[in-house]
Amino acid sequence: MNITLCCTATKIEPWLEGLRAALPRAHVSVWQPGAPQADYAVVWAPPQQFLDEQPGLRALFNIGAGVDALLRLRLPEGCRVVRIDDGGMAVQMAEYVCHAVVRHFRELDGYEADMRAGHWGFRRPRVRAQFPVGVMGLGVLGERVARALAHFDFPVNGWSRSPKALDGILTFHGADGFHDFLAASRVLVNLLPLTPATRDIMNRDTLARLQPGGYVVNVARGAHLVDEDLLALIDEGHLAGATLDVFRTEPLPAGHPFWTHPRIVATPHTSARTLREDSIAQIARKMAALHRGEAVAGTVDPQRGY
Ligand SMILES: NC(=O)c1ccc[n+]([C@@H]2O[C@H](COP(=O)([O-])OP(=O)(O)OC[C@H]3O[C@@H](n4cnc5c(N)ncnc54)[C@H](OP(=O)(O)O)[C@@H]3O)[C@@H](O)[C@H]2O)c1
Repeated sequence: MNITLCCTATKIEPWLEGLRAALPRAHVSVWQPGAPQADYAVVWAPPQQFLDEQPGLRALFNIGAGVDALLRLRLPEGCRVVRIDDGGMAVQMAEYVCHAVVRHFRELDGYEADMRAGHWGFRRPRVRAQFPVGVMGLGVLGERVARALAHFDFPVNGWSRSPKALDGILTFHGADGFHDFLAASRVLVNLLPLTPATRDIMNRDTLARLQPGGYVVNVARGAHLVDEDLLALIDEGHLAGATLDVFRTEPLPAGHPFWTHPRIVATPHTSARTLREDSIAQIARKMAALHRGEAVAGTVDPQRGY
């Protein structure tokens, strides 16, 4: 089995060594222009030249959960795309989102500012039932996040493309269920994949349908959110604020209002990091299974876009 690695913006040596150790009978190397044809590739943001030079690839293993950037490239005919599923990301996403929601609900930013100002004072406790949380996307990450939020007794709504039944979570699906889902939610958590159907999905029309005092947590992709619409709805008072981990342009450009807006908490695309050891083990397991002709989880459907 010949494996090639083509991962931009990634320290490649540990991946090379890890894959060699996990698949000792395979030939694993780092791609260079003109390199011989490989059977499988491990990639992150590869250049088009790599794909054009490797027309015989049987599968591309993406070292992340989101494949939107990869699917925008011209892929070798018949080459399947396999994403990392979970690999330690779901628990990170659950802790990040629960932290953001609880911090907002318990007004911890306000308490922090009070204490820094030398002010010891209480706010009236908020009513949990008045903070229903809607999770868009109930896949590997969204389902884990929805369940984690439900542990804190928030009312939780979930929205997906196909119908889903999850204990303790009120589920909606498809375009027909979208407006009801939004109207039932005050906090909106985005865990959708970026596809033509979901680009710009958080815009003035949809965000205005959240309950008054709404709050947005975007941990999926920056292009899901129309930045100006979010800012306008916060400034008009319909939304209370947002926690944003992903942006239309990353790094977030200097001077963008998200850097300094008092009601926006921003982090640098760090809510769920690819954990190298877990991911190498998962990729090696799946590659060996594919090589034996078995089906593997996390295979992307290019028509669906995720
Ligand atoms: N910020 C970070 O650090 C970070 C890290 C990892 C991933 N991510 C992002 O998180 C996204 C989600 O990851 P995942 O592993 O949970 O994805 P996933 O397992 O593929 O799940 C996607 C979910 O979205 C739903 N969905 C897709 N298109 C839809 C549509 N048009 N309308 C309604 N629902 C739709 C799917 O519905 P069905 O269940 O019906 O198919 C599914 O429930 C990734 O694509 C990536 O962009 C971000």
